[in-house]
Amino acid sequence: MMNNSEILTANKIVKTIIRQANAPEIKILQGINLTVHQGEFLSILGPSGSGKTTLLRCLSGLMQPTSGQVHILNQNLYQLSDRKLAQLRRKEISYIFQSYNLLPALPVYDNIVLPLRLGKQKVQPQKVSNLLEELNFTADLKQFPGRLSGGEQQKVAIARALMMDAQIIFADEPTGALDSISRQLIFDQLKKLVDRGVCVIMVTHDIELASKTDRALILQDGQIIQEFMQPTEAELLQAMTSKEGAS
Ligand SMILES: Nc1ncnc2c1ncn2[C@@H]1O[C@H](COP(=O)(O)OP(=O)(O)OP(=O)(O)O)[C@@H](O)[C@H]1O
Ligand SMILES: [Mg+2]
Repeated sequence: MMNNSEILTANKIVKTIIRQANAPEIKILQGINLTVHQGEFLSILGPSGSGKTTLLRCLSGLMQPTSGQVHILNQNLYQLSDRKLAQLRRKEISYIFQSYNLLPALPVYDNIVLPLRLGKQKVQPQKVSNLLEELNFTADLKQFPGRLSGGEQQKVAIARALMMDAQIIFADEPTGALDSISRQLIFDQLKKLVDRGVCVIMVTHDIELASKTDRALILQDGQIIQEFMQPTEAELLQAMTSKEGAS
């Protein structure tokens, strides 16, 4: 079903929720089909509430869709045992959360190396400091996350994801809290991984960054309504504004 360079396929992903008892169910995702390749940088744009985070969660094994299938590296995610799914996620998948999901009781350094420790992988302190330097993170590594600014916390969440040698990285608005210089640094790091064959799937509201990715999808009401290869800023801007006008 998958050829060699395909890393992820999604077939007819539907996610429905029931907001209130006795109310009709709401389709947050309405049958998403998607194929992503190794070394591809994909961006997903769309208005708030269009289902971007839900889609990312379904694609990455964090949330089982109501129906439909996701394959990553030829494995049918939601047919795997919990153990096998956890294993795949630990080894091959990194996820940068929109809300960072740092552990407040652990200092910055321990947060960053936690996935490595959980995966019983070797921790190289030098690699941590190199990465943080490249992200221009200057706060104290012994500090607890609660003491950091939003942008600093976001960098820690990104560093944690990039420490892993994952084949696929999901990033949910990874530059949302960052100034324009930091935003460029993050993008450069992700791009570097893409150039090494890693696949990055990034949700963003940032049209300029999205225009530097290989492909951009526009999501609206849980459906992919437009797709651009080598997108330009102008066409993304137009796609986003015509949609806002419509809603
Ligand atoms: N667990 C949940 N229970 C109820 N409703 C939910 C749940 N998760 C998401 N939704 C609803 O589904 C829709 C899509 O949410 P989602 O978080 O995927 O949007 P988004 O595109 O990521 O938005 P944003 O740009 O604000 O992050 C929203 O209307 C949201 O209220
Ligand atoms: Mg979201």
